[in-house]
Amino acid sequence: MIIEPRTRGFICTTAHPTGCAENVKAQIGYIKSKGLNKGPKKVLVIGASTGFGLASRITSAFGSNASTIGVFFEKPPSEGRTASTGWYNTAAFETEAHKEGLYAKSINGDAFSNEIKAKTLELIKTDLGKIDMVVYSLASPVRTHPETGVRYKSTLKPIGNSYTNKTVDFHTGEVKDITIAPAEGDDVANTVTVMGGEDWQLWIDALQEADLLSENFKTVAYSYIGPKLTEPVYRKGTIGMAKDHLEETAFTITESLKQINGKAYISVNKALVTQSSAAIPVIPLYISLLYKIMKREGIHEGCIEQIHRLYQDRLFLDAVPTDEQGRIRIDDWEMRADVQEQVAKLWQEATTENLSKIGDLEGYRTDFFNLFGFHVEGVDYKEDTNEIVRIPGL
Ligand code: NAI
Ligand code: NA
Repeated sequence: MIIEPRTRGFICTTAHPTGCAENVKAQIGYIKSKGLNKGPKKVLVIGASTGFGLASRITSAFGSNASTIGVFFEKPPSEGRTASTGWYNTAAFETEAHKEGLYAKSINGDAFSNEIKAKTLELIKTDLGKIDMVVYSLASPVRTHPETGVRYKSTLKPIGNSYTNKTVDFHTGEVKDITIAPAEGDDVANTVTVMGGEDWQLWIDALQEADLLSENFKTVAYSYIGPKLTEPVYRKGTIGMAKDHLEETAFTITESLKQINGKAYISVNKALVTQSSAAIPVIPLYISLLYKIMKREGIHEGCIEQIHRLYQDRLFLDAVPTDEQGRIRIDDWEMRADVQEQVAKLWQEATTENLSKIGDLEGYRTDFFNLFGFHVEGVDYKEDTNEIVRIPGL
């Protein structure tokens, strides 16, 4: 069929298999061109199909020939309906990995559930024996707790007071004020339950109990800090409380890995256009201004450049560089004082009329459509495309 983008607010309900495959191949090409001095060998990536998790899987496989198992929650295709983007990404990733003789298998289902954990452990036991790294890169608005069956929802709200600031509708380019009401009731606790560290710890505990972690094992989860500007809705908001919890969990996990000399890391990553960040009010405006400046300074990065730098210049060094709170920082270029000063200045000036000039609205839009395999250079979108793409074993 002819596949076109169909957007509803900050989501796109269709995805293009050829465009997704081109995106994946471009990321693989980047990693092959850069190479890695050192990397993992047997890796489980939780949240492996899009964004930072996909980039981590690609960097592991094509940077250090790692065997990878990817866990994700994606919609398979059906006659006349496209799959979700992570499905097509994974199909392309596996095709390319298998061409090079690399082990790559995937599990599609709810990573928060006991069932998917058990299935993953079984696959590791059968196929890989012990693994030396787990990348935890889930981003989800909901979590059904495995013990109680209660379904928790995360929120993106300020805490204490309502928050008013500028935001942009990146489809129309309209810049306007948005007011977000403060968290109430169990909002904070629920967001921590969904996006905090409990599930990360459950995964590592289960893997360790099953004796599936090798000596010197590493695990990394991704966090975000961002500027003062977005603090009320991000780092000091409900999601920030979840990130605080995730970051504390790294210490608890490291403690539990003592016997195998293992370590849990947090990597604080840069703000990027992904399905998750598009959903956060205010962030798209911030990103479009940030992109403009980082591109001008020649320091712009996407997921793959970020994760390559994480592996090459941080995680696999003998002494892993961290900040005072023990976190790896690959948001260092985003957070540079000169970059942030320029963003803050542009933020004051930004209006519907000038944003496409002072900000990188076009870059934001392109990245957004690219997430779903659209607006990718070299793809003929008029061509009849088979939406039914299979992933071996799924
Ligand atoms: P994403 O939306 O691109 O990827 C999320 C992944 O989680 C996908 O593979 C999806 O299939 C999987 N997933 C979601 N719910 C699942 C479930 N119940 N079971 C199994 N898999 C599930 O998100 P992104 O942006 O790559 O985020 C990953 C992590 O990076 C998050 O912790 C996020 O907070 C963090 N981060 C994101 C930044 C950004 O600007 N996008 C910046 C810094 C950190
Ligand atoms: Na991800």
